[in-house]
Amino acid sequence: MAVFEVKHPLVKHKLGLMRHKSISTKDFRELASEVARMLTYEATRDLETEPHNTHGWAGPVEVERIKGKKITIVPILRAGLGMMDGVLDLIPSVKVSVVGLYRDETTLEPVTYFSKLAGNMASRTALILDPMLATGGSLVATVDMLKEVGCTSIRGIFLVAAPEGIERLQHKHPDVDLYVAAIDERLDENGYILPGLGDAGDKIFGTR
Ligand code: PRP
Ligand code: URA
Repeated sequence: MAVFEVKHPLVKHKLGLMRHKSISTKDFRELASEVARMLTYEATRDLETEPHNTHGWAGPVEVERIKGKKITIVPILRAGLGMMDGVLDLIPSVKVSVVGLYRDETTLEPVTYFSKLAGNMASRTALILDPMLATGGSLVATVDMLKEVGCTSIRGIFLVAAPEGIERLQHKHPDVDLYVAAIDERLDENGYILPGLGDAGDKIFGTR
């Protein structure tokens, strides 16, 4: 398993703005989308291309196009929706596979309440979207769901990841690569990432 911490100055700057305790819903939402767009650029960097002939302005021209598995993005409800627009800016024609999970506040274990995946998942690369990788329970449950329907090519895009969540994924699904804006220090006693962003879902939806 590889974890790519995207250390681009724009990513660092925007994530820094997101950490401010009084950030508005509007700003948090916009920045989540912008950072997601940049992480997507990195997460798709190694997609294979193939030569393709097209009609150029001056005659036939050989260009390149992406080949291989089609991508489906997998936003984890609800906070993952806050990253979707930024990802769609770069790969607008992807199918969207939605899963709904929340963390039980006492056990911190994920509870699944929704799943509507694209067809023929075995032929697709899944890009999971969630701002926060904390204990890793939600991510592991999502990967379990994707593998159950035959998906074998899975990547995750997160704004902030805790070492504890990365370790859990490494143990359960070492074949899944991660693209993150920051690996933070640790979880607090309530399973929140430190220094983290706070409750990302509440900040994106303004429900705090
Ligand atoms: C948050 C976050 C992840 C999960 C991470 O969702 O968006 O899905 O917690 O925690 P974990 O790694 O310990 O599983 P939350 O349960 O708050 O739901 P929400 O997106 O509906 O707000
Ligand atoms: N979910 C969040 O929204 N934030 C955290 O720090 C952990 C889980």
